[in-house]
Amino acid sequence: MTDEASQDAATRIADTGRQVVAAAETLADLAVLETTLLGKKSELSLARRSLGSMEPDQRKEAGAAFNATREALGDAIEARRAELADAELRATLDAEALDLTRYVEPVERGHVHPVTATRERLEDIFVGLGFEVVEGPNLETDWFNFGALNIPAHHPARGMHDTFHLDVGEPGEYVLRTHTSPVQIRHMRAVTAHRGGPPIYAVMPGRVYRNERTDATHLAALHQLEGLVIDRQITLGHLEGTIDTFIRAYFGSEFETRFRPSYFPFTEPSAEVDMRVPGGEWLEIAGCGMVHPTVLRNGGIDPEEWSGFAFGFGIDRLAKMRHDVSDIREFVANDVRFLSQF
Ligand code: PHE
Repeated sequence: MTDEASQDAATRIADTGRQVVAAAETLADLAVLETTLLGKKSELSLARRSLGSMEPDQRKEAGAAFNATREALGDAIEARRAELADAELRATLDAEALDLTRYVEPVERGHVHPVTATRERLEDIFVGLGFEVVEGPNLETDWFNFGALNIPAHHPARGMHDTFHLDVGEPGEYVLRTHTSPVQIRHMRAVTAHRGGPPIYAVMPGRVYRNERTDATHLAALHQLEGLVIDRQITLGHLEGTIDTFIRAYFGSEFETRFRPSYFPFTEPSAEVDMRVPGGEWLEIAGCGMVHPTVLRNGGIDPEEWSGFAFGFGIDRLAKMRHDVSDIREFVANDVRFLSQF
């Protein structure tokens, strides 16, 4: 081959090579092309063999032309390889992408049970008033549930509580707690042991159990929110003020409340709190009173130095009242049509 023929061949090989490289559709095709264009058996490699038979200065020019072609094709292949690699990555990402919104749409979102929501709202209100939230066990000893609260064995007040007795321990030793008042005793003793005594500003929410027939206003497993305040010179006025403040915070001002004198062995004096929508029926929602000196003593607190009040609200009843639910049993019937309204 002459010098001129070599230069023409170099130019032609570069031009057609660039075209086929640009037309390569996949990285695999491109790899095959690279061998075809630049490998030992490529037209370019074969053409270079003619260099050996050329005059030195011709060889120099023709050699430069072949080198330029080799470089140009190498660059074209690398550029195309980068493009194809990018396109293949994009295609993979598109194919494997998850559109999470597609799965969220048809799923129905749940929410907390209305009684739980009520309990949480009540806790928030009392925490806002400076109270702490304390819990106690559902399984209680007879002493914490009754004895410590000034209700000894055979006391007629036990008749107010239809108790579930448990077949563990000594006969009559364990009960499912019939109210959250035993947590008063547990908390007083804990405060005496760990903080050296009052003041106490605490609410104690939880489930309680009554072995009685259920109806539109009674459940056998219900929820109460106990309150306990022990400080110096606490009076009945503080009790009424606290309950009023709480009711206004939870219900708003359109509801009416009344205090009725009542009897509990663990408070003296005692009262019951009723509520109604104006013109509606009164519903008993809480028992309350000034903590009995015997109860303070059982909690390790000196009644000469400290006084206080306690109250116990029925959480389910508050929820019933607030949401105008006609039958309290709806809360435990587990009917999604009812629950989804909240
Ligand atoms: N423990 C009482 C009940 O369940 C309510 C109550 C609590 C009354 C605290 C007075 C003081 O009926």
